Amino acid sequence: MESCSQMTDDVLDKYLHSDCQNGFTKQHVKEMIVSYLNLTFAFTLTVLELIYEYSSYILLAVALYFLLLILYRSYVNPIIFKKEFTEIGFEHIPPGPDRDRIISRAQTAKKIGSKTPPPFPNGWFAVAESRELKNGGVLSIDALGQNLCIYRGEDGVARVVDAYCPHLGANLGIAGTVSGSCIECPFHKWRFGENGACVSVPGVEHAPKGVSIKHWTTVERDGAVWIWYDAEGRDPLWVVPELPELKSWGYRGRNEYVVSAHIQEIPENGADVAHLNAVHTMSLLSGLGEKYPLLNDLIGCHVWSATWTRNEDHTATMTLTHDYKIMKFDLGHVDVKVTQIGPGHVRLFLSTPVGPILVSQSVTPLGPNLQKVIHRMFSPTYNAPFAALSVKAEGAMFERDIVIWNSKRFVSAPAYVKTDKTIRAFRNWFAQFYSENSIPFREALQNPLDW
Ligand code: FES
Ligand SMILES: [Fe+2]
Repeated sequence: MESCSQMTDDVLDKYLHSDCQNGFTKQHVKEMIVSYLNLTFAFTLTVLELIYEYSSYILLAVALYFLLLILYRSYVNPIIFKKEFTEIGFEHIPPGPDRDRIISRAQTAKKIGSKTPPPFPNGWFAVAESRELKNGGVLSIDALGQNLCIYRGEDGVARVVDAYCPHLGANLGIAGTVSGSCIECPFHKWRFGENGACVSVPGVEHAPKGVSIKHWTTVERDGAVWIWYDAEGRDPLWVVPELPELKSWGYRGRNEYVVSAHIQEIPENGADVAHLNAVHTMSLLSGLGEKYPLLNDLIGCHVWSATWTRNEDHTATMTLTHDYKIMKFDLGHVDVKVTQIGPGHVRLFLSTPVGPILVSQSVTPLGPNLQKVIHRMFSPTYNAPFAALSVKAEGAMFERDIVIWNSKRFVSAPAYVKTDKTIRAFRNWFAQFYSENSIPFREALQNPLDW
């Protein structure tokens, strides 16, 4: 106590240069400090006593809060987890006012590789989230080298048309309005019906014949609006079947990313069996295993095995087994059956110890080397909390691939080894989605929609 008092004296001597400053003597100041310290001590003691006395209630309240939060995000307000393009794979660029410019320059300088396949393969591509397109709603999206207007008629049907009005070129997706099943241009109020034909013009008795806007074949599946893109102008070469499970399973949220890579690179990841144990082994629970490999046994790690098989049509099948292992103990066995449907759609059925989850992935080319990738989660009601959790967990696994994609280039003739035979098979299979009039990569780069 004496030494404490001595310390207080020393401090006061240092900062109070005379015995009298602003009317206070050193003794006054000392008494004031001591009384404040006493008060603080008494207050802290009382709070700690209260916490101790009511600890079980407090623990219960915290547990209840988290339980309610999980239930709310699982059943009422599903998680939408989005990351900015600059957040993944650019950690080596320090924060600062020039960061975006440096990333943009790195992207411009990135080599695209030789013999890069056409950037927009033929197939179905997701252009909007079904639940975000309300009746009478209008959206605008630039994808597949197109400017598109997406709208939902008052009849509840989602439709997609080219963005530009054939009259004077106003963009229907920006300020267009919906009337019945038609989209109305904001500039002179021309209306276009469901097949894109102009159906009325204000002040004109008959709509002009032969005037129409291109409309896109559209379907809604897995919580998204898809359009059929085909360089030859053909009708859809396949239909995407509805999933009977989704009649009773609920939507549990989604993660969304923008990736700088050729579209083919994303599904190729499924056939690239060798990368699984290189990229996806480290535990999601802690990054410590990455820094200190000796800790891997204690923290645990993900163990994978996979097969990839092409089918004789527009689909390919992958089977994947996942185990989370700590030492020799297997804490999380998950079987995944993956169906790749065309170039831009994948369905992953996860059989987990707590129930099934469907992950529906869409890949949509926003530009020749820029993809929007979304994973939507669905599950039965009883498994909703786990499916909601997987929005972030699956996203964290996927981000490890994005780190690679965002700075890699396409290699048309890789140095294949034995373990890469499925990559070669994948490329042969994927080639079916390019056709005679597929726009070449370098030509597509002339488009102002490029990265
Ligand atoms: S520009 Fe669309 S109606 Fe005139
Ligand atoms: Fe991967």
